[in-house]
Amino acid sequence: MKPLGLHEIRSAFLDYFEQNEHLALPSFSLVPQGDKSLLLIGAGMAPMKKFFTGEAEPPAHRVCTSQKCIRTGDIENVGKTDRHATFFEMLGNFSFGDYFKREAIHWAWGFLTDVLEIDPNLLWATVYLDDDEAYAIWNEEIGLPKERIVRLGKDDNFWELAVGPSGPCSEIYFDRGEKHGCGDPDCKPGCDCDRYIEVWNLVFTQFDKDEEGEYHPLSNPNIDTGMGLERIASVLQDANNIFEIDAIHAILEDICAMADYEYGTDKKKDESVRVITDHIRAITFMISDSIVPSNEGRGYVERRLTRRAAKHGRNLGIEGAFLYKLCESVIDSWKVQYKELDDNREVIARVILREEERFLKT
Ligand code: GLY
Repeated sequence: MKPLGLHEIRSAFLDYFEQNEHLALPSFSLVPQGDKSLLLIGAGMAPMKKFFTGEAEPPAHRVCTSQKCIRTGDIENVGKTDRHATFFEMLGNFSFGDYFKREAIHWAWGFLTDVLEIDPNLLWATVYLDDDEAYAIWNEEIGLPKERIVRLGKDDNFWELAVGPSGPCSEIYFDRGEKHGCGDPDCKPGCDCDRYIEVWNLVFTQFDKDEEGEYHPLSNPNIDTGMGLERIASVLQDANNIFEIDAIHAILEDICAMADYEYGTDKKKDESVRVITDHIRAITFMISDSIVPSNEGRGYVERRLTRRAAKHGRNLGIEGAFLYKLCESVIDSWKVQYKELDDNREVIARVILREEERFLKT
């Protein structure tokens, strides 16, 4: 396995798909454009719905992105668990009426095993219940043994948002080994324990779901894939949680330095450090995409994240405003891919400082 850093994995992914004739697009904004069904972008395909449905012409029929995403449904779990995060990056390759299952599966396998050099014996695949075509590609073309291909139902192997393009999928799992497992001899992907983690979701986008929940077949079958950058980085870096990933850990260390605190010495304080580590990325990227604190909608999400992070700063004994300084660490690290962060550096710091000062007064 290649021990690549977070930023290196992202570049390797985009380079690989560019070599396979994909157009690498910059991330779309976190603010959905012309889509009232979403408050924030939370999936790589979300900003491209209209390319899947044929409503708009895509800039190319094969594209790849590293998309900025925010999901706040599980905000109370951030800092407490190993995996919950509000901000993450989703790597994806997309076909709009161009290639389909065969190429999507072969390229995903090639990236994981040739480029990232993951041991193929540690990879499993799942397919949708009756998807014999995907099953045969995995088994006969890739050579994955039958024992490592699992058929799962709609809960696991069907991708959809509230409305829009959707379809059955095939997921790739990494085996973290028995020590992470539940001990059940039949443990495999689909089990609730931590042994098998999903790293890549290949969606065979065949339907457009309407507001009534009806599925309408799309005229062209499409491909939408999603691989969480932090998830694959955890695998390559053998990190037990997202806070051990190189670039994210560097932010965590900056917070500890500001608080003069040694990470790992106090459970409650560790949780505060992790919450701030997560939220500062979300806040920095949101403001860079022109989301400013307010009492409703996206602005409220931003305000809530800033205030939660500020409160956890108090738990660590940090005096006064500090998030407006910490955002510099995020900008300096992530600007390698997201140039807009550097362009908006001063505005980001100013907006955060104003909100921290308001919070400190209350
Ligand atoms: N759109 C596929 C995924 O995010 O998993």
